[in-house]
Amino acid sequence: MGKDVIVACDFSNREAVLGFLDRFAGEARKPYVKIGMELFYGAGPDIVREIKRRGHRIFLDLKLCDIPNTVKKSMAVLRDLDVDMTNLHAFGTIEMMKAAVEGLTRPDGTRPLLIAVTQLTSTSEQRMRDELLIDRPLPDVVLHYAKNAQAAGLDGVVCSPLESPVVHGACGAGFVTVTPGVRFAGGAVGDQARVTTPAKARELGSDYIVVGRPITAADDPVAAYRRCVAEFCDEA
Ligand code: C5P
Repeated sequence: MGKDVIVACDFSNREAVLGFLDRFAGEARKPYVKIGMELFYGAGPDIVREIKRRGHRIFLDLKLCDIPNTVKKSMAVLRDLDVDMTNLHAFGTIEMMKAAVEGLTRPDGTRPLLIAVTQLTSTSEQRMRDELLIDRPLPDVVLHYAKNAQAAGLDGVVCSPLESPVVHGACGAGFVTVTPGVRFAGGAVGDQARVTTPAKARELGSDYIVVGRPITAADDPVAAYRRCVAEFCDEA
């Protein structure tokens, strides 16, 4: 599996996201698109079908976390949207993650990649300790949640690029790391806490980087996307 750049299309309506994607019409490499809560809640499930019809791969980032039965039934609905990757919070326990796998699996046994959020890349170790009362080093927490996800049959985790080596070391190279918290050298960090450049994420072994504002808010989003691909991917 080759490394890829996933563009976080955090827009609140259909016109904005389709207008944005139109700018990439001439690109040989069609961006892998992340649809998150803002766009899904604002534009509804049809936007997933429409972007899929345009030929983009889709990571549906809704971060489910609820009782196992609710998550299973919700995943069964998402299954019919035919996305390439979706996710949940590992915090919901192994039982919830197993229920999610069941719900997401199609009658023919196939399913989209399912990955678990470990700790949000906006969470610092200090906040985790002071507000969540988790009194352990952040990489240990991420690794523990990754092992839970693997035990539940998931394909990988969302974590910071900084944690990719420890996750791959313990869960194997085939266990996918999807890593937001990516910024160009000298770029604005915003609300993210654990960040690296695309080149550093590559060095650390991330499988996918998720990049939002450094591309969507750039003066030239296509150039910013190309820069991510050039720094991170095996071939541009
Ligand atoms: O704009 P920025 O590059 O910070 O966007 C990062 C994207 O990755 C956002 O859409 C955010 O929801 C998502 N994400 C994250 N941290 C996680 C999981 C997802 O930043 N742990």
